[in-house]
Amino acid sequence: MFSGFYAWQIEPFWLEFVKHKMTIKNLPDHLAGKTLMQISDVHVGNQFDYNFIIDSFQKAQRFNPDFVVYTGDYVNYENHKQYEQLEEVFKHAVTGNLGTIGILGNHDYGLDWAEQDVADEITSVLQSSGIEVLSNEQRHISGLNFIGLDDYWALNFSPEYVLKNHNPEKANIVLCHNPDVCDLDVWSGYQGWILSGHTHGGQCKPPFLDPPILPVKNKRYNSGVIDLFDGRTLYINRALGHLWQLRFNVKPEITIFELEAD
Ligand SMILES: [Fe+2]
Repeated sequence: MFSGFYAWQIEPFWLEFVKHKMTIKNLPDHLAGKTLMQISDVHVGNQFDYNFIIDSFQKAQRFNPDFVVYTGDYVNYENHKQYEQLEEVFKHAVTGNLGTIGILGNHDYGLDWAEQDVADEITSVLQSSGIEVLSNEQRHISGLNFIGLDDYWALNFSPEYVLKNHNPEKANIVLCHNPDVCDLDVWSGYQGWILSGHTHGGQCKPPFLDPPILPVKNKRYNSGVIDLFDGRTLYINRALGHLWQLRFNVKPEITIFELEAD
């Protein structure tokens, strides 16, 4: 199933565009060969020069993606200053020809992941940048059905209803910031892809060793394609931004999936 995937490097020192095939059940014929781009963990704030994100967005837009999904952690939240910074960066947001969807991550909920007003502000910046934010909701766009879960560690984690009501006859994709959610009993038999972020691939990975800094319970959930052996396939994007400047052997990533019928 994954024999066709490969990766290449555009920027030798930084951004890597990683390309994978994405096989989807019930994919309408007109979507075969279309692209879905995943961007995750942008972390706009004071920890690093966010012109890197703007540059990356400009490069990404040149791929002319059909769908773009953002899987959370838009800011490294310290105070209200991040709203303006986010606005400045997301003026350049990458958008899809057919649709652009986002979900929130823990950092989008401010201090202790517990500030609803921060999440509301961030949501409104995203919406005005052309990104439709889903919170335990599904949205059908041009033949793809996006199921967007809210963040596991934050205030509005409540995936049961939307998963219970998903239609397995549709071409579904789940967006879920924190991959640990895969191990919870909330999936109602869902089969298909789950796109996550949150781990930053461990961010600082000594060569040949497992990543030492992984903010997940399940240490298998590091990065890349992970077969969950029950009809679900997890993909963990290594993040575009950083939480601190040090990033060793884990390059920032933007993923480009090419859709194909099962
Ligand atoms: Fe996160």
